Amino acid sequence: FAATDYQAEDATVVQGTVATNHTGYTGTGFVDYTNVKGSYVEFTVRPASAGTTAVTFRYANGTATDRPMDLSVDGTVVASAVSFPATADWNTWATKTIDVPLTAGSAKIRATATSAAGGPNLDRVRV
Ligand code: GCU
Ligand code: CA
Repeated sequence: FAATDYQAEDATVVQGTVATNHTGYTGTGFVDYTNVKGSYVEFTVRPASAGTTAVTFRYANGTATDRPMDLSVDGTVVASAVSFPATADWNTWATKTIDVPLTAGSAKIRATATSAAGGPNLDRVRV
């Protein structure tokens, strides 16, 4: 089945802003996480089928330091402190895929920064 893209700039953003000050993003922008622990972006997704599903985050991290995030589904952390390591610069985007359990219908996938630096810049999630 075809995957669907969900843009970060269309998601629920808490402690972050929609930005366009770097190149290479998809959609109309990306989310710049505020540089604090606990900042998050939450996507409401509709998986094509239930079960273990690959979820791919497209991000940039123009620093030399990891920007780990907890990933939760409907309020339950399913992957802790997932690494979002450095990319070459803020205009260079990489992907991080994790397999998460999803049920049929809609699911809320949240990516929450776990370090004081906040999350990476986040472009989208593909489910
Ligand atoms: C820079 C960069 C932002 C990024 C921020 C950060 O300000 O322009 O896009 O989000 O660094 O360190 O989080
Ligand atoms: Ca930021």
